[in-house]
Amino acid sequence: MAEALRITKTTAVILAAGQGTRMKSALPKVLHTVAGRPLVYFPIRAALEAGCEEVIVVIGHGRGLLEAYVSEAFGASAHVPEAWRGRVKTAVQHEQLGTGDAARAGLDAVRADASRVLIFYGDVPLLTATDVAAVVRGLANYPDAAVSLATCTTADASGYGRIMRDTQGQIVEIREQKDLRSAEERAITEWNPGIYASNCDFLKDALASLKPNNAQGEYYLTDIVGFAVSLGKRVVGVPSNPDVMDGINDRAQLARGERAMLERLVAAHRMNGVTVREGARIEDGVEIAKDATIESFAVLRGHTRVGSGACVDVGCVLTNADIGEGVSLKPYSVVTDSVVRARAQVGPFSHLRPASDIGEGAHVGNFVETKKTRLGRGAKANHLAYLGDGVVGENANIGAGTIFCNYDGFQKHVTRVGKDAFIGSDSQLVAPVTIGDGAYVGTGTTVTRDVPDGALAIGRVKQENKEGYATRLRSRLEAQKLAATASKKSIA
Ligand code: UD1
Ligand code: CA
Repeated sequence: MAEALRITKTTAVILAAGQGTRMKSALPKVLHTVAGRPLVYFPIRAALEAGCEEVIVVIGHGRGLLEAYVSEAFGASAHVPEAWRGRVKTAVQHEQLGTGDAARAGLDAVRADASRVLIFYGDVPLLTATDVAAVVRGLANYPDAAVSLATCTTADASGYGRIMRDTQGQIVEIREQKDLRSAEERAITEWNPGIYASNCDFLKDALASLKPNNAQGEYYLTDIVGFAVSLGKRVVGVPSNPDVMDGINDRAQLARGERAMLERLVAAHRMNGVTVREGARIEDGVEIAKDATIESFAVLRGHTRVGSGACVDVGCVLTNADIGEGVSLKPYSVVTDSVVRARAQVGPFSHLRPASDIGEGAHVGNFVETKKTRLGRGAKANHLAYLGDGVVGENANIGAGTIFCNYDGFQKHVTRVGKDAFIGSDSQLVAPVTIGDGAYVGTGTTVTRDVPDGALAIGRVKQENKEGYATRLRSRLEAQKLAATASKKSIA
């Protein structure tokens, strides 16, 4: 985001300790995914992009899983932007006593020299850095303000805490859905999306003052508003975009949130000059260069990259795939943790399993499976083959039905095929084995010994032709059939 929009001297506290009962799941709610990332990823990213120096994620339910995820996704993973590394920490809320109690656990972990805290929830994936930064700016704009918070207005606010204002229009309280007392209160259309900014000192006092006197018997973070008002302090409401504020509490909301996220991602790719057909699914983190085409029902996941001018045709599934410029991935090809270099052609129905590396201009065709195999530039394996643990030289040709027999039941072994070699159809190369440069393997050969450069390997029974045998055989079989039918009739 633009530097001018960045906030500074702010620590974010993201609440993610709840179980998420309404998900009815063994998995903690914030680890359920939207566009390929756990829900909690998005608020953390928003805080980092907004400029928060430190992000404290409050965890509790399923804390082992959350801790592991946060330390991988914002620490250990090779894909973490350098500027983010080490800035995300976790704090534990031991018992889930409510959002106010969770905020307290988070605040305890905030560095003593921090002055401003931005608190929001881990189950609101669509909000962006701009949305949270606006709330911090709301606080900074009013020196007498104790709290600044986002507010949204929509025709139906049911489920959310409502913003209660006095006759002068000042915010005086947030009241949870379950604590609303009348039809008029339930009709209030201004609601709390749950983004708050405040100074540490005020927050400490406010959180200490909370009492669980409400319908749910919980410590409500939202009660800091009433506390501020009771001290005669100002509460600033920052009107915010309701379209990005949906909290995810159940699987119907998860589906809606994901649809919105995927539409946002597709829209961004289209703006960047990518043709994305209806029904393609492009998850968060995928990079696509301009003039690439992503056809219907293609699925692009993880750290997949697609080069300019490449075409990912109908039904392809790419996971952490690196697809070069001008590559053609024909329909229904599956590429996982693999590289396909410029102008190569793959599919239809190819399966590139992890650590495959398809060279520039190489061809991999129907029903070819590769795993941990490097195909040199211009090499071809056009039909029905299994190439596992292989190194194939430039311009080699692998015939239909070839199998690299890489596994002896205990260990994997490597098959090497030299450049310009020709492997005849239906051959088995029993690894470890090396076929030399320019060598030729006759169709149907089982290769168990290395083949020198330029040699021909052929291993099959000599062919014999028996003149007239087929004709004689046919008349004998016909006579047998006639005799069998006649005897059946006479029995009947
Ligand atoms: C909360 C707000 C509500 C607001 C809504 C916006 C309160 C009391 N209510 O309600 O005003 O309209 O969000 O989406 O804050 N959590 C903890 N520890 C706990 C309880 C919750 O860490 O003890 C975390 C959850 O993991 C979740 C977040 O806080 O990520 C919000 O909790 P949730 O129960 O979903 O609150 P809502 O009922 O949606
Ligand atoms: Ca919620």
